[in-house]
Amino acid sequence: MASSVFHAPCGAPSIKQLECQKYVGLRPSVTLRFNCVKTKTVTARRLVVTASKSHDGASKKLGISDAECEAAVVAGNIPEAPPVPPKPAAPAGTPVVPSLPLSRRPRRNRKSPAMRASFQETNLSPANFVYPLFIHEGEEDTPIGAMPGCYRLGWRHGLVQEVAKARDVGVNSVVLFPKVPDALKSPTGDEAYNDNGLVPRTIRLLKDRYPDLVIYTDVALDPYSSDGHDGIVREDGVIMNDETVHQLCKQAVSQARAGADVVSPSDMMDGRVGAIRAALDAEGFQHVSIMSYTAKYASSFYGPFREALDSNPRFGDKKTYQMNPANYREALVEAQADESEGADILLVKPGLPYLDVIRLLRDKYPLPIAAYQVSGEYSMIKAGGALKMIDEQRVMMESLMCLRRAGADIILTYFALQAARCLCGEKR
Ligand code: PBG
Repeated sequence: MASSVFHAPCGAPSIKQLECQKYVGLRPSVTLRFNCVKTKTVTARRLVVTASKSHDGASKKLGISDAECEAAVVAGNIPEAPPVPPKPAAPAGTPVVPSLPLSRRPRRNRKSPAMRASFQETNLSPANFVYPLFIHEGEEDTPIGAMPGCYRLGWRHGLVQEVAKARDVGVNSVVLFPKVPDALKSPTGDEAYNDNGLVPRTIRLLKDRYPDLVIYTDVALDPYSSDGHDGIVREDGVIMNDETVHQLCKQAVSQARAGADVVSPSDMMDGRVGAIRAALDAEGFQHVSIMSYTAKYASSFYGPFREALDSNPRFGDKKTYQMNPANYREALVEAQADESEGADILLVKPGLPYLDVIRLLRDKYPLPIAAYQVSGEYSMIKAGGALKMIDEQRVMMESLMCLRRAGADIILTYFALQAARCLCGEKR
């Protein structure tokens, strides 16, 4: 008997109906019969759907044979069926007009939920999400003022619980951002490659608990830099490129050694992807992927994130390394470099204000594309929702769908857990 195995998007025993369902395009059939068996293996939850052996209805005898039914119809004894319903009335005062001579009426394909679901071009699934998580040395979780619903999670407790919640609804990828104690920050950010630092320690803990969890890491010096910059700052304020890349290579190798699956340079130094690839390979980490922040713009949408990590630049801005928000073609220059240096995934950041750049890279490169819906985008939706100016949940789902439509394969989003719960039909 034919059977299909779906990787269930959530731990829920059935695929529930909800408003958000239209985003996944999953809808349990009411006419077909399925036997659903939920299996739980060490590595993955699976929903096994098999065709039912029993088939009620067909064998029921009603006393009249097919031939007799056909003969009756041929003889003009047509059985009754409900009449065509009357044409629905228009409100009084509706103008009476001749119909427009249109050969194409696109609304025909949108006329019912079922048809809209059939023709939906883009889908959204918890498997598309990467959940960014802030961690700190503390035991408690500390709320982040500028990002309602986000916390600096205690690396040993809160973090592990949050990861469990995410996995429960099909989000199995996380990216870690550390809040580093000021006393460990320095101009050269050497704490970034301490094998016993917060990030490598946390990776080891998570991998011990959840071996199949996909762990992305951030490669950049800013959380470790006493200057709050992504690279080493010379006395005249210049960010030193090649010296910084040297540090980033050590940082990436340290993360890979701890068990990171994907290292993600977000620093925007030139040549870092090739250098990191070579460093990883030299240490035997050929299997570790690189997600390059290819088109990372010098954006004001990062404000809440910098508050979360207390990583604001102590002086100046990041415009000599992050891209000018006015530039489009320049994204191709960055993408060419990253592709040729061996990047596995190209990332665009921020997300929603840069949909054109996502589409550009999607069309020009065969590599997977990631979009980062950054802190400012998240906080604006949260704030608008809290003030009842917009419907938070609907705007959240729409913004994520739009990032997918523009061409993003994966989305880094602080909404990962909330949106996945919505997709799984859990109301919270
Ligand atoms: C730093 C880094 C930043 C973000 C991710 N990695 C901030 C920055 O570049 O200043 C921002 C993410 C967000 O705003 O959600 N390398």
